[in-house]
Amino acid sequence: MDLGLRDAHVVVVGASRGLGRGIARAFAREGARLALIARSRKGLEKTAAQCRELGAPEVLLAEADMSSREAVDAAFAEIGKSWSTINVLINNAANSIGTHGPSEKFADETMYADAYNVITLGYVRTTRAALPFMKAADWARIVNVSTASSGGSSPVLHIYNMSKTAVVSLSKAQAREFAPYGISVNIFSPAGIMVEGGNWGEVMNGYFEKHGLDPTNPYDAVELSVRQFGGTKPWMDRYGLIAEYADAITFLGSRTNSYMTGHDMVVHGGGNGD
Ligand SMILES: NC(=O)c1ccc[n+]([C@@H]2O[C@H](COP(=O)([O-])OP(=O)(O)OC[C@H]3O[C@@H](n4cnc5c(N)ncnc54)[C@H](OP(=O)(O)O)[C@@H]3O)[C@@H](O)[C@H]2O)c1
Repeated sequence: MDLGLRDAHVVVVGASRGLGRGIARAFAREGARLALIARSRKGLEKTAAQCRELGAPEVLLAEADMSSREAVDAAFAEIGKSWSTINVLINNAANSIGTHGPSEKFADETMYADAYNVITLGYVRTTRAALPFMKAADWARIVNVSTASSGGSSPVLHIYNMSKTAVVSLSKAQAREFAPYGISVNIFSPAGIMVEGGNWGEVMNGYFEKHGLDPTNPYDAVELSVRQFGGTKPWMDRYGLIAEYADAITFLGSRTNSYMTGHDMVVHGGGNGD
């Protein structure tokens, strides 16, 4: 299938590692032009090098912290020096590090506010900044990464899930608001993704050894989640690979995906996803 992404202008937020890097790589393979945003310059450069190797004709980098409206605006102003239009915005950044635990662990409200500020308001900020460029484009798609556990009951994940559930409501409202401009907004909700460092590293660190499991094995990873965190097993019995999620997101963000909006695409190997 031709996804119609050759030379499309694609912005990936949270592209310095993990799923974001996988998403950038998948768009690069389709011949898209990329603008990569995150805080870590080193991580962005590593992603950019891989994207160029895979065939991206242009890769722009912008460092920005999603918790700052000024920083987000400055990043899009920088992108605007090279591009007058944006076709695809992928909101994927999340700062779930430190948010894990039941409510009694969090005596003050700082982590709640921080998660909401980066995850939910971060998506608001990037979308506001990208909108004029997207309205000027022939076609435009926004994909907001949430989680298969949004709306779920996990005490350990409750701070993260609260901000990601808000992303679902935000996206549906945006889908309705932006439809007259021909801009679609869809949600992508993955389950466990094995990512070195970041959220995955923080949650799982140390536990694989404790349970005698292998962190590189997607079947072991799901086993750990069940034993240590009381998660449920996906019907497919394993977690997904970064490329399996990234390819689905690339379709959601493609020109070919022309009549789907306000949809929550859940990719979790079957089951409840929590
Ligand atoms: N991994 C999972 O099991 C899983 C499951 C369900 C949903 N998800 C969702 O999938 C997405 C990617 O997950 P992941 O595991 O790849 O996450 P990750 O490894 O923690 O990477 C998160 C990305 O967001 C960026 N980021 C974090 N805080 C930021 C901030 N304040 N400003 C700008 N960028 C920031 C990070 O870059 P810098 O640190 O360089 O800024 C990084 O590029 C997230 O939205 C996550 O919630 C993940």
